Amino acid sequence: MATISRTTNERPNAEAIIARAAYYILDRCSSHAEFYPMVCEAFYDGVGSLAGREAANAVRRDGLAMLHKHFPTEKVLLLEEHVRLALKETLYHWSYRVGKEDLGLPHPFYVDHLIVIRIHFPYQVAMKAKMAERPGASRADFVDHAISALRNPRIVLNQASRAIRRPRSNSSYDPDQFHGSLTKPARSHGAHIDTWYGHSFDGINLWWSIDGVTVDNTVILYPDMFGRPMEYDNKSMYLASGQQVSEPHQVDLKPGQLLLFNPEMLHSTQVNVSDKTRVALTTRVNPHTPRFNDEAPFNFEHWHNSSDLERRRFKALDVFPAGRNRGAPSHDQRPKLAAHKTKRISVGHAVGDGPACLSSDLVAGSKVAIDFLDAKALLWRTAAGEVKAYTRLCPHVGVDLADGWHDGDVVHCPGHGLRFSWLDGASNCASFRLRAFSVEERDGNVFLARAAAGVDNAKASEMVKG
Ligand code: FES
Ligand SMILES: [Fe+2]
Repeated sequence: MATISRTTNERPNAEAIIARAAYYILDRCSSHAEFYPMVCEAFYDGVGSLAGREAANAVRRDGLAMLHKHFPTEKVLLLEEHVRLALKETLYHWSYRVGKEDLGLPHPFYVDHLIVIRIHFPYQVAMKAKMAERPGASRADFVDHAISALRNPRIVLNQASRAIRRPRSNSSYDPDQFHGSLTKPARSHGAHIDTWYGHSFDGINLWWSIDGVTVDNTVILYPDMFGRPMEYDNKSMYLASGQQVSEPHQVDLKPGQLLLFNPEMLHSTQVNVSDKTRVALTTRVNPHTPRFNDEAPFNFEHWHNSSDLERRRFKALDVFPAGRNRGAPSHDQRPKLAAHKTKRISVGHAVGDGPACLSSDLVAGSKVAIDFLDAKALLWRTAAGEVKAYTRLCPHVGVDLADGWHDGDVVHCPGHGLRFSWLDGASNCASFRLRAFSVEERDGNVFLARAAAGVDNAKASEMVKG
């Protein structure tokens, strides 16, 4: 996996981001000194309100990356909401300033009304929480929205027309079902592009690392997937199974660094396998009139105009109804990525009832994905010629490893970036390991059998699905 840690002093080129998926890491955005301390203070204030002054002092002393040591996982969603409400106007203005000062955008450009505060505890800490308190609807949001609607009646008209419009075709979105027993604070984002979620085409994401971002919990970008046709799964809104992904790039960000990227590039976030809390926030600017995939189950139609934000008129809101602002990506399309390093074989029997494949199917450097009637397996031949075989669905939330990028040491899960060793199925997270099949090669065929207890990594088998 490649690591991106390049920062730049050149001014980011907005059109290159949109047309060619160029991405930039700014060491400091122009307005960093003005805004970054305010953001940190909002977190400390939230910790104080929700967990007491002692916790706030401890977080201030140890840093936000140590939040999980002093703040309960159950209240993480409440803290995110506290910070969002405290900072929303500040962050609209900050986004405008990045658009103007760092990206050099001329008026008018637009800042998305949606702001996301992202706090991710280390996975094994987050998993211990049995539940997560969810914030209720915000009265402050309601009042702000009512003022915006009074100023701009098109907001009300659009809401009324959406209420009577036919249901969107894509209505089976159900992230809770997809994530199974994972509570919200323990989840990360699977591979996706933002227009699948109803975001605008040709936007620029501002992904601001506040603290605790490391290569073991960061954003993963798939630059070589940009502009290629991809299907998404209606339930999760993540990349649908059966599509090979390109080499993942982990973005290594220090506190305060800002990643600018085109969210039509496939991207995800990693399971947090670090010992730090990852604290980040994201906003979005669009250099042109926002346009949408009207087939998405919802669309983000409310935007702040740069001229209003320049004058700090935060209650002024523009609405771009998706039905009347349909679009398509403006960048060139490329062919689908060839799955040249994964051979897929389907056999009409169960594991152990016949051969899995021919020995000659296992070509050096390539993996083989086999569908049995009762299991899915992933096979690999080591440099020494030994064949390894594992269950193929990632034990995290069941994404198919056959679609993942691999090298001679590991296969990368295209879900949330866990890496599994070819040698023993262990991953970079102690909670997850692939179950091994026992393997026999005879007469030019490869046979698999379910490994008996005590064989190879069977100790971890209770944790393994698939
Ligand atoms: S890392 Fe999440 S499904 Fe594999
Ligand atoms: Fe995204």
